[in-house]
Amino acid sequence: MPEPGRRVAVITGASAGVGRATARLFAQRGWDVGLLARGADGLEAARREAEVLGARAIAVSVDVADAAAVEAAASRIEDALGPIDCWINNAMVTVFSPVKDLRPREIERVTQVTYLGSVHGTLAALKRMLPRDRGVIVQVGSALAYRSIPLQAAYCGAKHAVQGFLESLRCELLHDHSRVRVTMVQLPALNTPQFGWVRNKLARRPQPVPPIYQPEVAARAILWAAEHPKREYNVGYMTTAAIVRGPRAPGLVDRYLARTGYAAQQTSEPVDPRQADNLFEPVLGDHGAHGAFDDRSHRGSLYGWWSRHKAAALAGATVIGLLVRAGADRRVRGRLSRWARSRGFRRLAGR
Ligand SMILES: NC(=O)c1ccc[n+]([C@@H]2O[C@H](COP(=O)([O-])OP(=O)(O)OC[C@H]3O[C@@H](n4cnc5c(N)ncnc54)[C@H](OP(=O)(O)O)[C@@H]3O)[C@@H](O)[C@H]2O)c1
Repeated sequence: MPEPGRRVAVITGASAGVGRATARLFAQRGWDVGLLARGADGLEAARREAEVLGARAIAVSVDVADAAAVEAAASRIEDALGPIDCWINNAMVTVFSPVKDLRPREIERVTQVTYLGSVHGTLAALKRMLPRDRGVIVQVGSALAYRSIPLQAAYCGAKHAVQGFLESLRCELLHDHSRVRVTMVQLPALNTPQFGWVRNKLARRPQPVPPIYQPEVAARAILWAAEHPKREYNVGYMTTAAIVRGPRAPGLVDRYLARTGYAAQQTSEPVDPRQADNLFEPVLGDHGAHGAFDDRSHRGSLYGWWSRHKAAALAGATVIGLLVRAGADRRVRGRLSRWARSRGFRRLAGR
């Protein structure tokens, strides 16, 4: 049932990684949360965490590749918590592999979850938000939505597709003068369980490409985007470098990534052949928000802060600049006036 004054957010992929950290932060900030993912253990743990933090929470086990199941989950969440104010498309899967070794079924699955999963979430959100003329859809993106890297072609393709889909939707919302907002948060490399359970065809265990950030950095940006929706936010200076500078010299970046992109995505440890992957089924157990790279991960991003507070920081700097200038002007005028008086120039001295 709706509770007056409380906002409701739906988070897909809420059982682990970025989604898990985001669920926690939204609960802390007074949102009620609808949590979607497949794995019952992680989902249940996420629900309990949110409730301990004072939120009303409902966990629904769903595969986002299934449009009807996502739509049914949205209805269940609204029945339990009330109208959805914010929908966060975060769930993803990927495969670490050269293109030549990818099977069509794997590419289809990455596309169904990472691209179509976001489309299904967006459709379920729009169905509810458009008639009310309010709500925010937050798409969790990546620098790889603009600049692909080797060994993750299916995922890069899906992230590009999400970006393209939302660009069309944004134009349509503007055309219709809708107050429903779409915002995309482009994230840097993050220390999440992804790298421990991803399907991997490489010789060594995968890793996020440094610099690596903790998932809480992403959660803060997602919360900010939900509460201050604008077209896009970039988190991490490498994200902006990839999105803004990459297109200026694409051929050069191709060569750079061909040289560095293989080693940068792998640790020195050999793959564990017994490790289960999460491509078609969830991996059993509760995996939490963090991956195996705590000791190498940043807990904050100055660039993320700048991306969120740029307008306020610039306004503050302008005001300080004007005040300093006004003070300096007064000092200069005072000196000029004393000099003029000492030489008997009364009009210049202001008498
Ligand atoms: N980690 C990074 O370096 C990084 C960098 C840039 C952007 N991102 C973005 O951040 C987001 C989260 O990534 P992450 O690193 O946190 O991933 P993650 O650790 O692998 O977590 C993925 C989440 O998605 C859920 N999920 C996977 N397949 C699903 C399906 N078919 N249906 C429903 N839920 C499903 C997983 O839970 P179940 O298995 O229980 O379903 C889990 O909760 C993604 O959008 C990704 O593109 C991550």
